[in-house]
Amino acid sequence: MRALDYLGILSLLLALPTTHSLKAHDFKTCSQSGFCRRGRALSARAKEAGAAWKSPYSVDPSSIAIASDQATFTASVKSSLYPEINFGLELRVHDDGVVRVRMDEVAGLRKRYDEAASWALIAEPTVSKDIKWTAGKKDIRAVYGKKKELELVVTYEPLRVALLRNGKEQVVLNGQGLLHMEHFRTKTPAVTQTEEPAPKEGEEVVADEAQAVMKAENPRAWFEGDKEDDYWEETFGSWTDSKPKGPESLSIDINFPNHGTVYGIPQHATRLALPTTTGESPFFSDPYRLYNADVFEYLASSPMSIYGSIPVLHAHSADSTVGMFHAVGSETWIDVGHASDKSTETHWISESGILDLFLMPGPTPEDIFRQYSRLTGTTVIPAHWSLGYHQCRWNYVSSDDVRTVQKRFDEEDMPVDVFWLDIEYAEEHKYFIWDKKNFPDPVDMINDVAALGRKMVVIIDPHLKRTSDYPVYQKASELGLLVKTKSESEYEGWCWSGSSAWIDFFNPSVWDWWKTLFKPRQLASGWSWTESTEDVHIWNDMNEPSVFNGPEITMPKDNIHYGGWEHRDVHNINGMLFSNLTSQAVAERSDTPKRPFVLTRAFYAGSQRFGAMWTGDNMGTWEHMAVGVKIVLSVNIGGMSFAGSDVGGFFGNPEPEMLVRWYQVGAFAPFFRAHAHIDTKRREPFLLDQPYKGIIRDVLRLRYTMLPIWYTAFRETSVTGLPVLRPHYVMFPKDQGGFNIDDQYFIGSSGLLVKPVTEKGATQATVYLPEDQVYYDYFNHFAYRGAAKGKEITVPAVLHQIPLFVRGGSIVPTRERPRRSSKAMKRDPFTLRVALSKAGTARGELYLDDGETYAHRQGQFVWREIVAEKPAKKARTLKIESRDLGAARPAEAVDGAVLKTFDPENEYAKSIADVRVEKVVVAGLSGKPTSVKVEGGDELVWDFTPGVAAADKKEGIASVLAVKDPKVLIAKDWAIIIEW
Ligand code: GLC
Repeated sequence: MRALDYLGILSLLLALPTTHSLKAHDFKTCSQSGFCRRGRALSARAKEAGAAWKSPYSVDPSSIAIASDQATFTASVKSSLYPEINFGLELRVHDDGVVRVRMDEVAGLRKRYDEAASWALIAEPTVSKDIKWTAGKKDIRAVYGKKKELELVVTYEPLRVALLRNGKEQVVLNGQGLLHMEHFRTKTPAVTQTEEPAPKEGEEVVADEAQAVMKAENPRAWFEGDKEDDYWEETFGSWTDSKPKGPESLSIDINFPNHGTVYGIPQHATRLALPTTTGESPFFSDPYRLYNADVFEYLASSPMSIYGSIPVLHAHSADSTVGMFHAVGSETWIDVGHASDKSTETHWISESGILDLFLMPGPTPEDIFRQYSRLTGTTVIPAHWSLGYHQCRWNYVSSDDVRTVQKRFDEEDMPVDVFWLDIEYAEEHKYFIWDKKNFPDPVDMINDVAALGRKMVVIIDPHLKRTSDYPVYQKASELGLLVKTKSESEYEGWCWSGSSAWIDFFNPSVWDWWKTLFKPRQLASGWSWTESTEDVHIWNDMNEPSVFNGPEITMPKDNIHYGGWEHRDVHNINGMLFSNLTSQAVAERSDTPKRPFVLTRAFYAGSQRFGAMWTGDNMGTWEHMAVGVKIVLSVNIGGMSFAGSDVGGFFGNPEPEMLVRWYQVGAFAPFFRAHAHIDTKRREPFLLDQPYKGIIRDVLRLRYTMLPIWYTAFRETSVTGLPVLRPHYVMFPKDQGGFNIDDQYFIGSSGLLVKPVTEKGATQATVYLPEDQVYYDYFNHFAYRGAAKGKEITVPAVLHQIPLFVRGGSIVPTRERPRRSSKAMKRDPFTLRVALSKAGTARGELYLDDGETYAHRQGQFVWREIVAEKPAKKARTLKIESRDLGAARPAEAVDGAVLKTFDPENEYAKSIADVRVEKVVVAGLSGKPTSVKVEGGDELVWDFTPGVAAADKKEGIASVLAVKDPKVLIAKDWAIIIEW
């Protein structure tokens, strides 16, 4: 057997885990991780000591220096346990009220990793101009905010930082005294322990006294524990993690008095409102873990880490929302508890790195999104086609297979925009290199797909097969661009391609080189992907990174990256750099940059600027279908709006009912892709029998009719940072009844509320209506009426029914002509659904641009607002008016644009000048019209169906006015006047 064959078989065997069920023992629990154990032990000791516990950290008041900008102060911090060690604290207030708190060891034996923020932030934030710190005897304070409602108080001894609003504490750091920055030290023989003093005979010792005695005897052990627990080396299974730098973990408690619910810190498969991990009867026994990991068949309810990490948390109550972001790239565990139902206590334990916290003062969820996106950027507006339906499987096995699948979609009139190729397209899993046996004509295949207005997405994983006939590996190795082992040799591990190496994307020399690889034309400077075209976009998988034979299926933590940093310092950021660079490479491969589409599995804070994510290897179970919705919501909270789950479930063979429901879930996720494991049966929607096939066709078509809604929602998120999927607490922050709801949500500001059905055999669904407003069934205009304090309604939900509602007061633009792909819809006319509020008014928005280039950043777009109002004193008249929004608000039009003015007659607008509104549907008119006219024009053709009120008169089928071909243009100003 040739060595290569042997390696091939071995790699296949090593790949087997993906077909097995979750091996929980492959992944650490907190008690198996030295620094997490130390962190939790610290909180256990603090709890035991009760009131006697006191943080050893304090600010040296004489060291306080206020910078000339007045917004920043620095001070020395000491720990009474180690008076010889110096820490530096820096606090600054940004111009939007965000507070940055940094702490690092000063002049230590080594340097802590302090670059996490530089990868996450879009720029160094500007500091506030109107802050004034006042240093007193016990603390230093600053009062700020528009109404001077915010106050920051840094208490010297013990060190405690509190952010207050209107005199109430909102965020408190080190209030429980769990701050501990383990300083760098030299390895010394283990510290000898002082025995706990035994009570003398006959003497009763109260706990506090015992603590006090212990503290006096050995304060370090009292605080840090009495042994060097995994300081210098750690084993897990057969792996040993050498820790040449010794202990450097960071513990801090971050408490949110007055906020009883917390959201965020994705990615975990759990509820959106984070269940507790501490307290009397915690929901989970382990803290939430952030350590990007390839957890195949992950559990549907667990605090275990999965593929991505965004250390962002929202703390919420009916009258306030505050947020925090910890720019840390190392493995981090977070305990969540509630001392009362009105407060939340969190404890953050990170393996390495500095303290670099951003406290976001809110006070509403909307403010938090704005504050966070000013730091790390927004989800950019994607290529329009990427909001269509994506068909994937592992694998379409040949170019003819791809052609046949495309043909079948067309024969069945099922819209689709993208066909995907998984790893088997690549010869021996050498990405970029086509397996010519099965894909003899890749460019022709791509062109055949593109000829029908579609795109392809091809996978490029980060592991490079270590073989001399792979130009990508060869070059990376020759240029020294690969990740190294602790002994500075090329790191070798196992992944799909067998023996592999990993590019070190932290190395700036990688960046330009990586971009050249994607050029679809011959380059003088080296190898590039000539067998590709601009219609190919990229899927970056396995970038946690996944290493089949590595500790916890990833890279050893003592591997070395550019700059000498250990993998442990940068693990959670590592995967993001790969997909970010790929995204830039795809954008820049053509002379006129086009919007790239890059799907990533691993992500970090800031990933939203570069592409989409999906929730990895889910299972074909109802449970996974349901938790997928929650994960996608939580990732949206973390700033990454472009998210979805594998429709159908990656593992397993879903029965037709499940597949239908899964399509209904997918059609209401920002990223909509079906995918399946190599061992599953084919399950493309055209393979199903009726009625399932017909139902899925309708779901696909529904998605396509709604593309204007999704695209408009992405415009908004690209500017405001508000997520595309909005859970209840974001929409109705004061409504307590919605805080725990995570199985129904709103789409952008469209007014659409959806509750995907994720239960087997469901015939009805319960939907929560948060306000005293009308909610119209999207399909039959049944008007439900909510209540001021929230109300549950029961709606029909047999297999073909999706509980989908239009909130009264919304105008929803759609395109209702079934087409084979989104490109074919570009000149299609629009339908406007006007869902009148209980007050009889409505408003909506529509954003359009070429969907592909960056011309929108130069003002090439159409941004309309459509408003339905009752003109003053004309009670029985409704005026539906379409107005330009771009000229009124050019600066906030769309991501990346810094427009001072906007020309509604721009070239793009001209290119769709003849695109009409073909139908206007008004639901909820209180009487039959006597006239429907375009302002200044003739009577239009219309049809009115009176409503059918239910017994309580508040609910029932709403009246529907359908105006056919109103002869108005989508990109122009107009008004339709309805009188009754
Ligand atoms: C990983 C991905 C999965 C993909 C497979 C083969 O398991 O999560 O989506 O199909 O690798 O590339």
